[in-house]
Amino acid sequence: MTITKIAGRWGRTVAGLAALCCLALSPTARAEPLPALQPYGQAAHLMVDGRPFLIRGGELGNSSASDLDYLAPHWEAFQALHLNTVLAPVYWELLEPQEGRFDFALVDGLIAQARANDMRLVLLWFGSWKNSMSSYAPVWVKRDTDRFPRARSATGEAQEILSPFSSENLQADRRAFVALMRHLARVDAEARTVIMIQVENEIGMLPDARDHAPAATAAWAEAVPAELIAAVEAAPGAPAHALWRAAGGRTSGDWSAVFGTGKAAEEVFMAWSFACYVEAIASAGKTEYPLPMFVNAALNRPGAEPGGYPSAGPLPHLFEVWKAGAPSIDLLAPDIYFPNFVERISPFRRADNPLFIPEANQAGREEAVADALFAIGRLDAIGFSPFSIESIERPESHLLGKLYARLAGMDQLILAHQGQGTMTGLRPPVSNEGEVDAAAQTVDMGGYRFTFSFIDPWTPRDRQKVETHGGLLIQLAPDEFLVLGTGVTLTFAPASGQGRVGIESAWEGDYVDGVWTPGRLLNGDQTHQGRHVRLPPGEVGVQRVRLYAYD
Ligand code: DGJ
Repeated sequence: MTITKIAGRWGRTVAGLAALCCLALSPTARAEPLPALQPYGQAAHLMVDGRPFLIRGGELGNSSASDLDYLAPHWEAFQALHLNTVLAPVYWELLEPQEGRFDFALVDGLIAQARANDMRLVLLWFGSWKNSMSSYAPVWVKRDTDRFPRARSATGEAQEILSPFSSENLQADRRAFVALMRHLARVDAEARTVIMIQVENEIGMLPDARDHAPAATAAWAEAVPAELIAAVEAAPGAPAHALWRAAGGRTSGDWSAVFGTGKAAEEVFMAWSFACYVEAIASAGKTEYPLPMFVNAALNRPGAEPGGYPSAGPLPHLFEVWKAGAPSIDLLAPDIYFPNFVERISPFRRADNPLFIPEANQAGREEAVADALFAIGRLDAIGFSPFSIESIERPESHLLGKLYARLAGMDQLILAHQGQGTMTGLRPPVSNEGEVDAAAQTVDMGGYRFTFSFIDPWTPRDRQKVETHGGLLIQLAPDEFLVLGTGVTLTFAPASGQGRVGIESAWEGDYVDGVWTPGRLLNGDQTHQGRHVRLPPGEVGVQRVRLYAYD
């Protein structure tokens, strides 16, 4: 029997038990439920302490949480950036340096530092896989390749990648993850400093589309599980469905009979195998402590074939496979390092998949603010988090910190408008080659047509980085709107195309603990004598604007 089957069956049984356990045996005395994802309109909220929570995040560089003394001074910068959540790795090699002997000192120290700084944590389980590889496996795993077999290339070469077809690999990882979750239930169920868990990191198969270890090759010749075929059949429009149809649309058979013999079929096979392995780990972890869990995807390079990129991860073209194989995973998340943010991120926001961006490119990039406004305003993201947050220079004056400061005062307002059709986010799209489409964009809301220009009228064109400009628009009431952003200028017309629209008032201001605190009334030169509302580049502005229609 292959591990695919063991993991798949086992995972489902435990997931069912987990649901029962949570009802019967809450690990906390607190009245508010544990962090959880909850549907809200057309979106979903991450609920923390019973309230919707917007993650103003930053992910640590890979090695920064391995030394508490190294990490300690960085919290000042995280405060200056107005983060409310730090994404931090937990390293299997340090958590279980000897088999069965767990050391929680680093985890506890991390939690203590976060608490002292009034921040939450999302823990990243660097277990069997980190960026495809298994570099974070403990040495007793790494050295014992008989007991803990590696994935192999088509030519039979062992890779520094644990094979997902080994029950020893799975059991070792699962034991450590279960120990971690049990520990968190013990030390954190009251405070809830840890609000979410990433299981593994950027899972993917390299350098071929599938593992060619003997167990993998045996599994490839076995029958495709009926639940996968059913999930693929039920998703017309999904790439896996097209693949299945092209191979004859069979409802039973081995992998090549059901999905074909090409690399795309091999990728589906691997995605299912990875997903079942993750399911076994996540569901077992949730029986100990049922925090929301997600997996993150390394995006595939355009034009590359499976095997030419970390294949079989939780990528949009494999969503049906991952959702069917790993139902205990609450969401599939993108890590985005390509410039075409709008294009690559949008497929991750689906009715069955709330958007969270654990790695939004390297921290410090000026595009982060525009990206965050688009993700949160348009795609109802539950959070945003650039990578290597401790490396950001001049955090006190960084634009990301200015955005996060604004969001800190108005997060409940924004969250209340997610999934309701009363909010949107806009930024100029950028192509994969880095070309910026600076064209103005229009949006209809509340009977008005808003035109967003991303080219600031009062700043010399050669001093503008248009790709860093973006805005978020909310309808607060009939004729009343809030705009948050940087480097955007809005003009107005009736959505019907009949008549004209004027500015009744435009107040700049800020939200302090959710309460609007007005500043200047903007008019005259500041609104171009009533022609536009402008949020200058280089800062993150908020304005409340009242409009009126006239003939
Ligand atoms: C993506 C990975 O998930 C991170 O852990 C880190 O390795 C970054 N790439 C580096 O850019």
